[in-house]
Amino acid sequence: MRPGREAFAATRRGDEAWAYRNVCPHFSIALNYEPNTFWAYDAELLMCAHHSAMFRFEDGQCVDGPCQGAALTPVVIRIEQRKIFNSD
Ligand code: FES
Repeated sequence: MRPGREAFAATRRGDEAWAYRNVCPHFSIALNYEPNTFWAYDAELLMCAHHSAMFRFEDGQCVDGPCQGAALTPVVIRIEQRKIFNSD
């Protein structure tokens, strides 16, 4: 990660993609344990590796787990030739 850039988690389903700050609203820590590795369930939900909170790809809303009702913070992205870029 370049200085001044914030880590984010990107999800993709077909041609659609979404990105969120890599901060779980439960304990304000990264969603993943291993660098660049995130857990997803059924191409629908992004799962926090710590306490299994589940977030919808399309809006980052937590729909199951210890922070149900909270949401991830979206990151503005652009997609070029199926590659995802941070537009912030
Ligand atoms: S830190 Fe993500 S669910 Fe607890």
